[in-house]
Amino acid sequence: MKVVTIVGARPQFIKAAVVSPRLRQVAHEVLIHTGQHYDQTLSTVFFEHLPIPHPDYTLTAGSGTHGVQTGRMLVDLDPILQREAPDWVIVYGDTNSTVAGALAAVKMGIPVAHVEAGLRSFNRSMPEEINRVMTDHIATRLYCPTQQAVHNLAQEGIRTGVKLTGDVMDTLVDQTPDNLAVLNRYGIDSGQYILATVHRAQNTDDSGHLHSLLQAFMALPKPVFWPMHPRTRQKIHEFQLDALLTPPMMVVDPVGYQEMITLERHAYAVVTDSGGVQREACRVGTPTYILREETEWGELVATGQAVLTGWRTHDIVTAVREQRARPKPAIHAYDPVAMILEDLLRKEE
Ligand code: UD1
Ligand code: UDP
Repeated sequence: MKVVTIVGARPQFIKAAVVSPRLRQVAHEVLIHTGQHYDQTLSTVFFEHLPIPHPDYTLTAGSGTHGVQTGRMLVDLDPILQREAPDWVIVYGDTNSTVAGALAAVKMGIPVAHVEAGLRSFNRSMPEEINRVMTDHIATRLYCPTQQAVHNLAQEGIRTGVKLTGDVMDTLVDQTPDNLAVLNRYGIDSGQYILATVHRAQNTDDSGHLHSLLQAFMALPKPVFWPMHPRTRQKIHEFQLDALLTPPMMVVDPVGYQEMITLERHAYAVVTDSGGVQREACRVGTPTYILREETEWGELVATGQAVLTGWRTHDIVTAVREQRARPKPAIHAYDPVAMILEDLLRKEE
């Protein structure tokens, strides 16, 4: 069996690091990097430090408007998929690389397997929500990380090809050892900082929201340590908010995966609008505050593992100050990757 895997953004490289090595034990994999993320800190670092195979093809989608970026990917993926003629295309998550990969494949009659299917924030103004819905409606196999995701698909009439596998990221988080050098490097102490990440369009592209977040970060009970996405850095500059990035807040470039997991484990709290970071921070048992009005990982909020704060200064500061112990997630004995591979290899009924 031949499988083409299409990745393009940071969280997808990390997911491919979990799935690709095992996929290669049972199938011939061809890896395509769309080039959506291209910086050392958003792309190269993961290929250097995680067991992701070197891409067979690296495209140059780069940055741009959604239409331009997605369109470039479609144009470049077309001839490659035609040449490779795989049995399956695997896509991950909800980025423009996900929807472009899925669309390029189905237009050529190649079935798509979507890992992380069925998640919904129910906020159609999020680009990611559009990408999720589109991808799920054209995928043949839909691998869901949660029971709620299975339910969401059923609500949209998608029942065939759906499988509850769990989240492929869980095992990676559990198996990643600490790299305490990262704390020494930045001179921060375990339990004495709040880890922040921000990159969602609704937070970065609205100067009022960004201003409000920065004011909140200055008023939190511990200094904020912030590995900053380049998008956010650019927007802070564009909105002339740089003056608010003052000590004890510490802003650094994005860090590698092992460093990030270590920072999540040792933080006093995590404040984030990232999908992956909110999941991981809850998994390692650190109090987690989601800088959004809603989340596609609703179970984290329903079970009290995370709190939705939105973007308003007062709401964020109040929530973090009221910090209480959060229940650790139940650790299930399951192997999402094995379930996905077993399902992918089975013959169509
Ligand atoms: C993208 C995904 C988002 C995902 C995130 C993971 C979409 C619509 N968004 O958001 O779902 O959570 O990746 O991190 O697919 N930039 C750089 N260097 C890079 C890449 C981007 O400086 O290597 C800057 C550019 O100014 C670019 C901006 O970041 O315009 C946004 O990049 P883009 O890939 O469009 O979206 P992300 O915000 O990274
Ligand atoms: N991550 C990382 N370094 C960072 C920030 C995030 O390695 O500086 C990892 C994080 O541990 C998680 C993934 O990137 O596994 C989440 O990616 P991101 O927040 O960019 O996207 P999202 O999950 O929101 O789509």
